[in-house]
Amino acid sequence: MIDELYKDYYKYSDFYDIFNKYRNYNREIRFILNMAKNKKWLLDIGCGTGTHLNALENLGYIVNGIDKSENMVALASQKVKRQIYNMDILDYKLDEKYDAIIAMHSVFNHLKSYEEFEKALSNSLDHLNKNGIMIIDLDNRRSNDDVFDIVDGNKRYLECFYSNKYNIQIRTTTFTIGLKDFIFEHEYFIYDIKKLEEIFSKYDITYTYLTNFSYQKAKRNSNRIHIVIKKV
Ligand SMILES: C[S@@+](CC[C@H](N)C(=O)[O-])C[C@H]1O[C@@H](n2cnc3c(N)ncnc32)[C@H](O)[C@@H]1O
Repeated sequence: MIDELYKDYYKYSDFYDIFNKYRNYNREIRFILNMAKNKKWLLDIGCGTGTHLNALENLGYIVNGIDKSENMVALASQKVKRQIYNMDILDYKLDEKYDAIIAMHSVFNHLKSYEEFEKALSNSLDHLNKNGIMIIDLDNRRSNDDVFDIVDGNKRYLECFYSNKYNIQIRTTTFTIGLKDFIFEHEYFIYDIKKLEEIFSKYDITYTYLTNFSYQKAKRNSNRIHIVIKKV
């Protein structure tokens, strides 16, 4: 029986770390370290439960995070000594400027249009020091996948439907936690990298598209694209 339907991370946040238990965070952290060598101040936008921030803070970075979900902010605040803010990537305003800004695991896919992408990018560039870098890790799948997994007895069934017309992947996840089921629905906006280039050309930046958390160049059909931007 489905008890509840959620459209934001309010409820999923409580189970986020369970279902990310076997995610290869080390590979992601190594990638961030490679890209943000000799950087000190780091901001994670859409930081979720704060796992990257926790690792990076322990490695000596001075970190902050923001997230739109209050629950995520509360969870990240338990893992990170420095401040996590409940803010939106579209219009956040912080006093500090950073040497590196990261948006890991599809945060920008939660935006609804190229206009919103540009708004979040431009806002972030205002918070970035000269020669600072920004990593935007995007989901690039245009497929209709089903994923089922069980972690510590908790079940997750993710159904994805991609609409070519709207460039949107509709993602419906049914969780079974103990005896309770709940559904989490959200949409991923899937970007055309050529259209993103039109946006990038308006700013004083250089950029590259990588994949597999390595120096491997992304292709148009790569499952994930990590855009690494440098403010010049
Ligand atoms: C898939 S989770 C990724 C969390 C974390 N970065 C990670 O790598 O696990 C997406 C996160 O983005 C946050 N988010 C989505 N839209 C946002 C927005 N407009 N502003 C700030 N955070 C947002 C969600 O609340 C959620 O915590």
